[in-house]
Amino acid sequence: MVLHLNGVSTRFACVLAVVLSSCHGFSFTEFIVGPRIGRGIAVTPKSSQISLAQQLVNSNGYPFEEHEVSSEDGYILSLHRIPKGKFENTTNKPRRPIALFQHGLLASSDAFLFRGPEYDLPYLLADAGYDVWLSNMRGNIYSNKHQIFDSEKDPEYWKFSLHEVGQYDLPAIIDYILNITKEHSLYFLGHSVGSTAAFIMGSMRPQYNAKIKLHLALAPLVYVLHEISFPHKVFLGSSVSLTQSVVARNILNVFPRRDYFSKLLGALCGNGVPTQFLCLIFIYSLVGIDGEQFNSSYIPEFLSYFPAGSSVYLTSHAMQMYAEGDFRPLDYQNPFMNLQKYQGLSLPSYNLSLVDHPVSLHYGDGDTLVTEEDISFTESRLPRVVGKVRVPFTHFNHMDFMVGSDAKDLVYKELIYLMNKHR
Ligand SMILES: *[C@@H]1O[C@H](CO)[C@@H](O)[C@H](O)[C@H]1NC(C)=O
Ligand SMILES: *[C@@H]1O[C@H](CO)[C@@H](O)[C@H](O)[C@H]1NC(C)=O
Ligand SMILES: *[C@@H]1O[C@H](CO)[C@@H](O)[C@H](O)[C@H]1NC(C)=O
Ligand SMILES: *[C@@H]1O[C@H](CO)[C@@H](O)[C@H](O)[C@H]1NC(C)=O
Repeated sequence: MVLHLNGVSTRFACVLAVVLSSCHGFSFTEFIVGPRIGRGIAVTPKSSQISLAQQLVNSNGYPFEEHEVSSEDGYILSLHRIPKGKFENTTNKPRRPIALFQHGLLASSDAFLFRGPEYDLPYLLADAGYDVWLSNMRGNIYSNKHQIFDSEKDPEYWKFSLHEVGQYDLPAIIDYILNITKEHSLYFLGHSVGSTAAFIMGSMRPQYNAKIKLHLALAPLVYVLHEISFPHKVFLGSSVSLTQSVVARNILNVFPRRDYFSKLLGALCGNGVPTQFLCLIFIYSLVGIDGEQFNSSYIPEFLSYFPAGSSVYLTSHAMQMYAEGDFRPLDYQNPFMNLQKYQGLSLPSYNLSLVDHPVSLHYGDGDTLVTEEDISFTESRLPRVVGKVRVPFTHFNHMDFMVGSDAKDLVYKELIYLMNKHR
């Protein structure tokens, strides 16, 4: 059926790719989820390539810088920076306030950038006088190096969850930025588990709270109180068995960015393709239904940026927090790994009363992953909440914070206003 549609060649190439890849001994699971570690199949870009993030930022007329930061435990992280706005003339302007973005699950810096200056917050902030930095979590397309381990060959590389992002990565990134800019604090903008990581940092390394001027928490996954929907239960149930099977096969880098995969999904989910409704059902059942804010003509483009890869343990951590409703470190369900990671058999829940940086909590009514009930509970546990803000649009869902058609008017203007207010 697929072959009778427009762009026949693209679709044919995709089908061919599936056929060819099975000839090379790839399993279907590997095709969907990711490569086995140690097979030597490169999924990461060559260092000489200009990153997609850089292409996006430069093509929109903004300056771009890439910085490398090492964490205490040896991970080499790639930070992206838009140091000034498009129309900025002088280089020795007065000090610019810093805005640090942290993406959510399986995403990367460029998911904040691909729609351009008319829509995306980093450009708006750069033009509003901010020094904009975008973090990339360890294990994604941009942050896949380590001082000792090779992410394509060494399973050790992939043994981390969101805990390490909060414990090691964010502190290293914040120290690096503050050192370079000679500033004392910054604005932190986190989406979903990106925001969660800052709460982990604030409880594990409380001395870093003073370095966050204001934390804009967009649909943060912290405590989950709401009744989990039927599709989410199905999804969690199948993920548990999928996770066990991929770990057993040494597939630890899950959903890395792969051209053939994006093109295949893009071809199945594009506008005017009869299979698009299946993609929409899948997306809406995960993040909440919002046909008004979600522009389906973006799907193919979005898929060339998302997913961008992560560790199977990090995705498990997010699912564990979601399923259990508790805000605590990942239980590896393996005493040896728990011991290795936490120097103890388990760790208690993160203590939110230690997280005393100012937080502004933002949620959407249409978000089925993080609901008002969850946000209210998180608010009750945090010592310095400066606001709890409902996005003024009935169906605003989890993903709309990143790609909602009117996110600029509904969310971003409010965020810039709050940042200007909390100088
Ligand atoms: C930068 O310079 C151009 C031409 O020299 C001028 O038109 C523009 O207004 C200046 N922009 C700012 C923000 O000063
Ligand atoms: C701070 O930055 C300077 C360069 O600006 C560098 O030489 C120094 O090592 C940095 N210090 C830390 C702790 O990163
Ligand atoms: C959806 O995106 C397409 C392509 O960017 C654009 O032409 C169209 O106007 C958008 N539709 C809405 C309703 O925003
Ligand atoms: C959490 O931290 C607060 C503030 O330091 C402390 O009073 C409280 O006992 C801690 N709670 C737990 C469960 O450790």
